[in-house]
Amino acid sequence: MSTAHRGELGGWQSRTTFVLALSASAVGLGNIWRFSYLAGENGGGPFVLTYLLCLVLVAVPVMIAEVVIGTHGRGSPPMAIRWTADRSMLSRGWMLLGVLACFTGLLVLCYYVVVAGWAVDYAWLMQAGEFGSASAADAGAIFGQLLEDPPRLIYWQSLFLLLVAAVVALGVRIGIGLVVWLLVPVMMVLLLVLVKFAFDNGDIAAAQEFLFSVKLIDFTPEAVLTALGQAFFTLGIGVGTGISYGAYAPERIPVGRSVMAVAIFDSVLTLLAGLAIFPLLFAHNMEPGMGVGLLFVGLPYAFGNSMQGEVFGTLFFVLVVVTALGSAIALMEPITTALMQRLRVRRIIAVLMVTAVVWLGGVVLAISFAPDGYIGPLAEGGPFRWLDRITSAVLLPVVALFTAVLVGWRLRPEILRVELYRESTLFFSLWRLLLRYIATPAIALMLVMALLAG
Ligand code: PHE
Repeated sequence: MSTAHRGELGGWQSRTTFVLALSASAVGLGNIWRFSYLAGENGGGPFVLTYLLCLVLVAVPVMIAEVVIGTHGRGSPPMAIRWTADRSMLSRGWMLLGVLACFTGLLVLCYYVVVAGWAVDYAWLMQAGEFGSASAADAGAIFGQLLEDPPRLIYWQSLFLLLVAAVVALGVRIGIGLVVWLLVPVMMVLLLVLVKFAFDNGDIAAAQEFLFSVKLIDFTPEAVLTALGQAFFTLGIGVGTGISYGAYAPERIPVGRSVMAVAIFDSVLTLLAGLAIFPLLFAHNMEPGMGVGLLFVGLPYAFGNSMQGEVFGTLFFVLVVVTALGSAIALMEPITTALMQRLRVRRIIAVLMVTAVVWLGGVVLAISFAPDGYIGPLAEGGPFRWLDRITSAVLLPVVALFTAVLVGWRLRPEILRVELYRESTLFFSLWRLLLRYIATPAIALMLVMALLAG
């Protein structure tokens, strides 16, 4: 039996640090790389609208539920859930939910470092002018070369992983707490500079038409599922981050409003990222539906053929790396603390263990892109796409579903009310209603459909 104590992991003194940390976790590859290629593949406007609806009705209530477990349980995800369940006389078995969340975060992190590694490589290529006047075919070839070069992939992703590990090893206050104060302003400035560049050099009208026009005909059940998955992914739900960061939040914060602020910030950044990307793509006649390679083929080509493209292209990929850093830290933290509390080891030991596993996972993925590997680069069914699919379509929703059931249906409402006492009664009732009657059935339905679709 573990002898862990509540609150032993430390915490932040200011509410702003908590909000910034959650924001840095929310904004990441999901906003820039994943959102843009999904919106591209799913026809733009209707997808954007569906995603926003899913965010408000399902993802935000679940995120609040996660943070409430954190502020109440004050521990790593498994421990916080166990303590919380104890208080409502529920089975200790609920802590498995925390274990699953941490494990899911580990899997996401494995492919997250791979994509972040691509971005670091691209920042390097961009500043070296590799894409200057490149043709679209050249841009495709450059991406192909990167994927077929495992040592190069492993080099960049290891560097990125090392940085993430260093921050997490420094701990809650001087590691995560300080770094997020730097990351969030930097990402905002970079993004605004890049939106300005896209407005000056891109086809703004085409991008607006694509992102914001709603053609009702395009709604497909497939797109709804993808949009819900993306809403979870972009807020960072289902991997224990909400619980961990909630556990570090100062006492008496307005949990509901803080999470809503983060969701708004996250969505605004997603739309701004769309406005930094699509005008350039359209100005260079690129197809928005080109899939995973959108950010690494279409966009570099567009930058390479714009005035001062190397400078702004470099800034763009630096932005991608900066946002990925905050998210990767948030993915590593929950499992690190779970190991600390479970095995009673020091933070640095736990970080080393997690880093070793993620590094190995990343190496396997990097090798799987190689030409003589039996799996084509990024092909459907390849390990990379499989991991993306299994985590966002199955694992994140499963964790979110059980979180909604635990908090919405099983925990005592009085306990929840205390954690959310800064919010109005109306807010509280509405939140519980959404959790019980919208989020729970919607996620369950999504899971069934995803399983039926294979
Ligand atoms: N929200 C991050 C993104 O959009 C990904 C993430 C998932 C971060 C889970 C933390 C936890 O890229």
